[in-house]
Amino acid sequence: MNLPDLNKAKLRSHNIVKIKEYINDNNLNKLGLNKKYFIRTYGCQMNEHDSENIKALLENMSFRETETMEEADLILLNTCAIRENAHNKVFGYLGRIKHLKEEKPDVVTAICGCMAQEESVVKEIREKYNFVDLIFGTHNIDALPSMLNDVITNKTQEIEVYSIEGDITENIPVKRDSKYKAWINIQFGCDKFCTYCIVPYTRGKQRSRTKEYILEEVKELIKNGYKEVTLLGQNVNAYGKDIYDDYGMANLLEDVALTGIERVRFVTSHPWDFSDEMINVIAKYDNIMPYIHLPLQSGSNKILKLMGRRYTKEEYITLFNKLKKAMPNCSITTDIIVGFPNESEEDFNDTLDVVNECKFDSAFTFIFSPRIGTPAARMEDSISALEKEKRLQTLNELINKYSKEANLKYLEKQVPVLLENISEKDDTMLAGYTDTMKLVNVKAPIEKLGQIVNVKITDVKTWSMDGEIID
Ligand code: 5AD
Ligand code: SF4
Repeated sequence: MNLPDLNKAKLRSHNIVKIKEYINDNNLNKLGLNKKYFIRTYGCQMNEHDSENIKALLENMSFRETETMEEADLILLNTCAIRENAHNKVFGYLGRIKHLKEEKPDVVTAICGCMAQEESVVKEIREKYNFVDLIFGTHNIDALPSMLNDVITNKTQEIEVYSIEGDITENIPVKRDSKYKAWINIQFGCDKFCTYCIVPYTRGKQRSRTKEYILEEVKELIKNGYKEVTLLGQNVNAYGKDIYDDYGMANLLEDVALTGIERVRFVTSHPWDFSDEMINVIAKYDNIMPYIHLPLQSGSNKILKLMGRRYTKEEYITLFNKLKKAMPNCSITTDIIVGFPNESEEDFNDTLDVVNECKFDSAFTFIFSPRIGTPAARMEDSISALEKEKRLQTLNELINKYSKEANLKYLEKQVPVLLENISEKDDTMLAGYTDTMKLVNVKAPIEKLGQIVNVKITDVKTWSMDGEIID
């Protein structure tokens, strides 16, 4: 048994990150024969991609996927720790599983992901949900086959969570959710330690994959018909700083663009590491999508300082304007937290000012959620929950106004859209995204799925647009 330890999780050393290759244990290839698994994924793209690895590991053991929890022999929850509501959803789901487990005691239940890295969560699971058979964290996904073998063959409860800086395992198998777009990890962990954020504790130190592994993955995806890749990391602009002297995100972006992949984008950028070289490269290559997610978090210099963000409102706006100047059609989205401890009315108005100045294409907005172990969770807070709700609503109204305005600029224009799904709102239409990440519902025959087509926008709403194909 290995339990998470927050104090260990925050340590950082200069130890060199080890790279190992995943080796499949063929003895376990039949462990899941005639068994089904059900997986539920919470949180960010990183977690979505981890679940793609988990699915492949399970299918290599002969498990098959089911969309219905009640049908499953193995239930996995891949969890997110970023805010309280993500937590609550998982504990709510565990309540449902508890009932199921009473009827079907042989169902194996596993919890993994960021919540599993939290001391308080594992304690609560052991006290109140002790039927959970397997708990593992973000550092040992590759060990899933052997951990499951212990649970299934020896009927033991396994808790294997490591609060370490972390290494890198290459070539973990992957079963991608899409045939057209793929996530590619370029970096794991984070060393920024923004005072509100749990990620540096749950995902270890910032460690970059080598460019060779990344470029190989892109080339393989192109061979398999993929049209778009998203380079993933908590702080991708700092890519390479931990392993190279003279090769960073700008170089990687350029090399990925030169592979000839039709589209490449990246998330998430921290304004601190966004270099001019990066801006030049993004502007230079047509296949680097003119879309940047640039979290602001707050527009108040006082709050930014308390958050440990290392930039001022003025520096953020300067970077924003530089991006728009280099790429006038680029869409820029953001993340904003309201109700950080002691955020005054004036601080909140500073945030609204920045929104009014930048007119973001869209934004994810959140109420501050204290995460145990982070410095912000220990800060005194005099602002009421009601006031925070009100601020969120005010902010959302403003954000939505600008989203609609940004979308209106697309009316009657021609844009490239990668058609990736049948539309949720109308099954005679296909849905996809522009290179600026605008959702478009398109009247198009099913054969066009997976293609990048030219679309004329005929109608726009706040969160999506309608269009038709032009030949
Ligand atoms: N409370 C609220 N929002 C948070 N985020 C990260 N940590 C917290 C927290 N403790 C938000 C940030 C980040 C996004 C992924 O989640 O805006 O950019
Ligand atoms: Fe992703 Fe962060 Fe949530 Fe973990 S805590 S799943 S890294 S958003």
